[in-house]
Amino acid sequence: MSEAATLARPPAGVPQDRIVDFDIYNPFHGQHDLHVAWTQLRDSTPHEVVWTPYNEGHWIALSPDLINQVYSDATRFSSRVVLVPKSTAGEAYGDFIPLSLDPPEHRPFRKVLNDKLYGSAIHPLEPKVRKLTVDLIESFVANGRCDFVHEFAEELPLRVFMQLVDLPVEHLPKLKHLADQFTRPDGSITPAQATEAFKAYVHPIIEERKAKGGNDLLTHIATSEVNGRPMTESEAARLAIQVLVGGLDTVVNFMSFTMRLLAQAPEVQARLAANHDLHHAAINECLRRLPLVSSAREVVADVEVDGVTLARGDMIVAPTELYALNPEMNADPLKYDLDRKVRNHMAFGSGNHTCPGQFLARMEMKVLLEEWFARIPRFELEPGQTLRHRGGIVGGCEPFVLRWDVG
Ligand code: HEM
Repeated sequence: MSEAATLARPPAGVPQDRIVDFDIYNPFHGQHDLHVAWTQLRDSTPHEVVWTPYNEGHWIALSPDLINQVYSDATRFSSRVVLVPKSTAGEAYGDFIPLSLDPPEHRPFRKVLNDKLYGSAIHPLEPKVRKLTVDLIESFVANGRCDFVHEFAEELPLRVFMQLVDLPVEHLPKLKHLADQFTRPDGSITPAQATEAFKAYVHPIIEERKAKGGNDLLTHIATSEVNGRPMTESEAARLAIQVLVGGLDTVVNFMSFTMRLLAQAPEVQARLAANHDLHHAAINECLRRLPLVSSAREVVADVEVDGVTLARGDMIVAPTELYALNPEMNADPLKYDLDRKVRNHMAFGSGNHTCPGQFLARMEMKVLLEEWFARIPRFELEPGQTLRHRGGIVGGCEPFVLRWDVG
């Protein structure tokens, strides 16, 4: 282990063989693939739950069953705090709703999001998403290469998101920087400062939308009722911030993981270019093979799990990566297989907090594959570049260059 000063002391009674050298923000040991890093941790121990001294010390669930329980059993695992380190990122993020609320308080706030993010509400956005997608691809297709993360992945979902909430595109860099402080802090400001900056940004917008009206998600939040009363201004701001944080990082990174993987799979590319009916299966297989969220929960009361006691107030991280990448859930789990009959995954979580943005995310992915393969049927990674994933609550890809033949 490195940087001993930042490591927490194990709780009394934790057996030595439960303690692992694993930092979720830098999980790499000798290689830089996020999904391999998680499977290496799982394969290094026979246990279902282990403890790491990084990030103030926390448990990590390793078995699919326990990962599912952590997300879906709020009576034992509360989402009052969902990030580690608990005292910094976790407590700051705990101000946001609905993710920080357990049932039954969670439900009315979640309904407000469902109204605007579920299937039929998202459908009318598709032409705009398609136009943004086509414009971006057309901007670099003749070059025969692109820096996919910077030129596409960081552009498209963020622009779509800004349309959903009707905010100006010029605000994107600031919002992205603030959102990143929760999922992959860079140390430039504390999570508490990021929360304050978010609130200062959102409050006047909520005020304005309340007065002006409109058809966007932020206006809907600002003017909605919960439990038969208008939402308070503070609640509306905290809900709006949650949507911003949830929607800003995840699709960017999922698209990047997807295109990096496809760039290394020419035979899959050939099938997707020839048959757009396969795109649906391709996206599902990417969700199964490339899950990227490792959220956490706070232990509600002392509880015995897999022969150890998790104490009240302890944090437990549940990597969605290890749900789908377990051979009992999916045979040969690291293999990208378009023809799988069954796909078990938890890329969008499980239980009350299952991602409400999944319909938008899937639609963006569908449009990306359709428009990309219509213009760039074959592509590859530019040789000689260093390829690295990034760890974190939401994993990601370091920038990479794709290239293809022109004409
Ligand atoms: C591929 C893209 C995405 C992935 C993989 C993803 C994944 C997840 C996961 C795993 C959770 C559960 C977290 C937990 O229980 O601790 C979640 C919740 C959430 N996501 Fe997403 N998400 C994606 C896209 C989006 C988008 C586009 C939005 C917004 C438009 C969004 C908004 C949210 C919100 C608001 C929650 C909290 C829901 C609640 O507490 O009830 N997500 N997401």
